[in-house]
Amino acid sequence: MIRVYAIASGKGGTGKTTVTANLGPMLARHGRRTCILDADTGMANLALILGLENLPVTLHEVLAGKASIQDAIYDGPLGVKIIPSGLSLQGFQSANPDRLKEVLQDLVDDFDIMLLDAPAGISKDGVIPLAVADEVLLIVNPEISSIVDAIKTRTLTEMIGGHVAGAIMNRVTTNNGEMSRAQMQNLLGVRVIGFIPEDPYVRRSSAARMPVVLKYPSSDASQAFSRISAGLAGIEYQAEEAVANASREGFVDRLARVLFRGKT
Ligand SMILES: Nc1ncnc2c1ncn2[C@@H]1O[C@H](COP(=O)(O)OP(=O)(O)OP(=O)(O)O)[C@@H](O)[C@H]1O
Ligand SMILES: [Mg+2]
Repeated sequence: MIRVYAIASGKGGTGKTTVTANLGPMLARHGRRTCILDADTGMANLALILGLENLPVTLHEVLAGKASIQDAIYDGPLGVKIIPSGLSLQGFQSANPDRLKEVLQDLVDDFDIMLLDAPAGISKDGVIPLAVADEVLLIVNPEISSIVDAIKTRTLTEMIGGHVAGAIMNRVTTNNGEMSRAQMQNLLGVRVIGFIPEDPYVRRSSAARMPVVLKYPSSDASQAFSRISAGLAGIEYQAEEAVANASREGFVDRLARVLFRGKT
């Protein structure tokens, strides 16, 4: 049975698309039949950062009732499947977001995991993914505006009968380090299931239109994606790099040491 996660944040630019584009391929690599869907129908860029172009059918046509969802599924890295949204404003205008739920129902037997890259904000388009997903994952940056918007998104999700599975802290630097995982969890009111560092290789890989987990697999961000995807797939984390680097302190240990300061 499929498990649908909405990757959401409230605030824009926290890393929802980046997380979707990297967790998707890693989940597929862990053997889960995985599909990533660009639910940001107005400002679609999932396909862009994955290097897909000239797509004849997208979620726009499907939500407009002009095409079948099966025709909007494309092959992505490591066996992940991608359902992109189109780039045109006209396509966005004719797409009816209310159809998303029935569209997903057609895929329940085809995948184990579906990640919905949600738009920022709490417009109708933003709220629908929160409502149709089995679980919401909040992508939060370690700054006050992002934390406040994540709390708002959690509350909104609960109001509409959705469920927040946890938060992923993205763009973490050791300078943000005063807050412990426990304090962050208290603030957000949800479990923090992972930390992704601020990493220049993320931007470099999207410029090359590839997920960082493929372009720079041993980068700190890639190791974090590897760890988080293993957790979501319910398997033990075994990064090749972690084995190779066993003798030196890894990023996650370093980060935990600074963030938790003996508080966990
Ligand atoms: N861990 C990271 N380290 C460095 N840069 C990052 C990291 N995560 C995301 N970025 C950069 O931050 C920018 C915003 O990321 P992204 O597009 O994934 O955010 P988003 O939440 O999907 O934004 P929007 O709300 O506009 O859809 C991008 O330029 C991306 O490369
Ligand atoms: Mg985005």
